[in-house]
Amino acid sequence: MSQIIAIANQKGGVGKTTTTVSLAAAIGKMNKNVLIIDADPQSNASSAIGFNSPNNSALYDSLLNNYSLRNGIMSTAMERVSIVPSAPELAGVEVELVSHLAREYRMQNTLESLREEYDLIFIDCPPSLGLLTVNALTAADSVLIPVQCEYFALEGLKHLSNTVELIQKNLNPKLKICGILLTMYDARTNLSRDVELEVRAHFNETFNVVIPRSIRLSEAPSHGISVLDYDPESAGAVAYNQLAEEFLNLSNGHHS
Ligand SMILES: Nc1ncnc2c1ncn2[C@@H]1O[C@H](COP(=O)(O)OP(=O)(O)OP(=O)(O)O)[C@@H](O)[C@H]1O
Ligand SMILES: [Mg+2]
Repeated sequence: MSQIIAIANQKGGVGKTTTTVSLAAAIGKMNKNVLIIDADPQSNASSAIGFNSPNNSALYDSLLNNYSLRNGIMSTAMERVSIVPSAPELAGVEVELVSHLAREYRMQNTLESLREEYDLIFIDCPPSLGLLTVNALTAADSVLIPVQCEYFALEGLKHLSNTVELIQKNLNPKLKICGILLTMYDARTNLSRDVELEVRAHFNETFNVVIPRSIRLSEAPSHGISVLDYDPESAGAVAYNQLAEEFLNLSNGHHS
């Protein structure tokens, strides 16, 4: 059932990295082998799980020079979760890859050889629709889209779903929307509720589980561990556990 999932939204700060790390941690605890690919030159996923000055150019070399990604896989303190960390060189990929042949398929080529070794591969994308994100969407079976519950959420989402359609048409016909995830939900505000209703009305792929705004989620990265180890009882950890269950049920074909 091996699957490659891109976690993407061109909008910054919507919870892509938090979702990548927390969902991977929750699924790892459910006995699945997970690999995180940190495809964002900002390296937030890497530092969130303790790789503070990643000195690992495996992802860059696999994209630019066809090196094997295997050399870059690091084990983490999280059960059954490994990571290919990001490196500053990755920022150059957007420019350097432009002149390469089949530049959109580089990540697909490099991940296909690893696919069977993991139950799930999560790609944490940068906040843009540049070549790194296009490579991730071309490599992926599906895309998980975190959306912050705020004004203009729907506009960004429409833009992204047009991009997903373009990728389906031109680069990766099998790409699906795995789900839209409402993040930083604040039950006390009308805004969160309005955004939720609006997103659900337009996109029936929206996850039932909603991620609340939770201070523990923003604290965990500075400790280099996921929220599931930092404070397993916190609302954020509980929500990501529920998301992991909903996600695995969807992958097994149980639609509610
Ligand atoms: N549910 C939440 N509750 C509170 N804070 C959150 C929540 N989700 C994310 N955050 C915080 O919001 C900020 C942005 O989150 P995150 O880094 O996951 O977003 P991102 O989409 O990966 O950002 P970027 O586009 O820069 O990669 C971080 O400081 C994170 O700790
Ligand atoms: Mg991020």
